[in-house]
Amino acid sequence: MPGDNVVLIGFMGVGKSTIGRLLARRLGRCFVETDDVITAGEGRSVPEIFRRDGEARFRQLEGETLEALALKSGDVIATGGGLPCQEGRMARLRELGTVIWLKGDLQVALERARRSGARPMLAGRSFDDLEALCREREPYYRDAQLSIDTTGLTIDQVVARILSLLRGREKSAPQVTGGRGPLRSTDPAAAPPNV
Ligand code: S3P
Repeated sequence: MPGDNVVLIGFMGVGKSTIGRLLARRLGRCFVETDDVITAGEGRSVPEIFRRDGEARFRQLEGETLEALALKSGDVIATGGGLPCQEGRMARLRELGTVIWLKGDLQVALERARRSGARPMLAGRSFDDLEALCREREPYYRDAQLSIDTTGLTIDQVVARILSLLRGREKSAPQVTGGRGPLRSTDPAAAPPNV
């Protein structure tokens, strides 16, 4: 059923990939990362795309990937941290399913991001720069249907919270149909509840 994906958004290093992978396993669903879709399509890494073609080209590829994701159904999707942060992107993401904003302590997220691989957006940026970037992105992230503050939580605890939130939404959804269970969003663009 279209619109029944679970979409994880949030700043670099907040744990979208790790949490998404485990969540997908728990739900018996496929896991998709937008960065992987882009690198598979391009045959080169994210840093290489930034280096050769610049950030604007990467953002364009993110836009194309977002359109291609409309074909997905029932998946857990983790987006790159910057993907939602352009006009209209959050609306498209919300059409894909339940969008969950993972947020947490920025210092911790950045340490994790720096440890776990090449991220061109970190290069040459101070903590203050990245804090400003994060603040710029928050109005977009805030358009998610749900949000979870991961501060002090283990991966298992975050996944358990997501599962319980999704179950809560399933119960309150007026139309309950389909094989793997509906996770369709039906509520208006309210501020995401904090868990
Ligand atoms: C980016 C985040 C990265 C990746 C790219 C740009 C960003 O993904 O898409 O390096 O602009 O925040 P993660 O959020 O998975 O680190």
